[in-house]
Amino acid sequence: MQPGPEGRSAVFEKMVKGVEIELPKDVSVLVVGGGGRCHAIVDALSRSSRVGKIYCAPGNAGIAPQAECVPIKDTAVEELRDFALAHAVNLTVVGPEVSLAAGITDVFRAAGLRIFGPSKAAATIESSKDFAKRLMEKYNVPTAAYRTFEEYSGALEYVRDGSFPVVLKYDGLAAGKGVVIPETFEEAEATLKDMLLDDRFGKGKVVVEEFLTGPEFSFMCFVDGEKVWPMALSQDHKRAYEGDKGPNTGGMGAYSPLPFITDEDREYALEKIMKPVAAGMMAEGCPFKGVLYGGLMKTPSGIKVIEFNCRFGDPETEVVLPLLETDIYEIFSAVADGTSMPEIRWKERASMGFVMASKGYPGSYEKGFEIEGIEEALKDPDVRIYHMGTAANDGRIYTAGGRVLMVIGSGDTLLQARDKALEAVGKIKCDNLFWRRDIGWRVL
Ligand code: AMP
Ligand code: GLY
Repeated sequence: MQPGPEGRSAVFEKMVKGVEIELPKDVSVLVVGGGGRCHAIVDALSRSSRVGKIYCAPGNAGIAPQAECVPIKDTAVEELRDFALAHAVNLTVVGPEVSLAAGITDVFRAAGLRIFGPSKAAATIESSKDFAKRLMEKYNVPTAAYRTFEEYSGALEYVRDGSFPVVLKYDGLAAGKGVVIPETFEEAEATLKDMLLDDRFGKGKVVVEEFLTGPEFSFMCFVDGEKVWPMALSQDHKRAYEGDKGPNTGGMGAYSPLPFITDEDREYALEKIMKPVAAGMMAEGCPFKGVLYGGLMKTPSGIKVIEFNCRFGDPETEVVLPLLETDIYEIFSAVADGTSMPEIRWKERASMGFVMASKGYPGSYEKGFEIEGIEEALKDPDVRIYHMGTAANDGRIYTAGGRVLMVIGSGDTLLQARDKALEAVGKIKCDNLFWRRDIGWRVL
């Protein structure tokens, strides 16, 4: 069976006919991925007036009540395509970068399937730091000064003559471990040896970058070629422990909006960074379709780019999407089909989320501890709980990953959002979880 003509969005129908008509809730969507970010996407889709059926591959225990979980790996792109064709899926939405880097959108489009996400070529903006830096250089987008090296001795010499700390970035996907910031020459030497002589992440280049200072923030935008629609700004907390101490993690919490970013800052980031990069991708022959994530820093000499991602951020998405008022299916459709975008509206509210992680994370940890109190905590309409790494057995929920749950509160202010979230966190009982209580310390 072929997917239906869902390119005709509800908004389009209204514009053409000039009347309010109710379109049926008959669309089916496949969400690829399985963490907290995908739970947030599934939750947003479940609020759509058009979406009747949601599949999630592979999904997780928390997603299962809202979507039919399908046991297909997020990198098995041909299998996913065959599933979408067999089940007449109308639209597919991709969460993780590994699926994009595996070329999922190219494979789906070749089969005539509608999909939200960038092509493999456009996803290079995340998978290659060197590509991203050259693009920024060419289109005058503000970022840290840099040089790229393929060879150990050249890199070592360059670092020896420079200042410290210095930023060393492996030019490829390295599971979040590809950025090292040595304080001394000896440390830099060891890291360069690791990356360029011992090929720890594989054969690749290293980008040596100027060290910048200032608060970091995440600017996610829906992008279709040159067209860019900004989302609410957010900030992630990457370190494991309070006071931004301890090892880097996949993110221990996030919040939105950001009081330290002014309207002028946001305008600058949109006009001088996100739009020129989208236009640059077009000019380079790899137009971007999907979510372009700018990891930005407000430095003393202006806002600069730290990195780009080719997908929704995690855990930022978990705090941003609950603030979205517009039907997300309409947004995904407009980008996937290149049709007109509805006005995107955001709630004038605040959102803050706390990640509850297994003790020991991001190092080794045990799994299989029962979690109680989730339903009790969810009785508050201002609370959402997204599952990151859980498993269900006999109706009970158990820990099954490093990051386990993200508990999100919303309120009129960030303070209210935090109180709501922490109250909910207090209701969750589990013997093996820890969390940072200081999410939002920069602004509260
Ligand atoms: P990335 O994977 O590129 O986001 O880098 C991981 C983290 O390293 C960032 O979130 C920053 O905290 C830090 N970082 C990366 N590049 C720089 C830089 N040029 N100056 C200072 N910190 C950086
Ligand atoms: N929160 C950072 C990321 O999604 O890569």
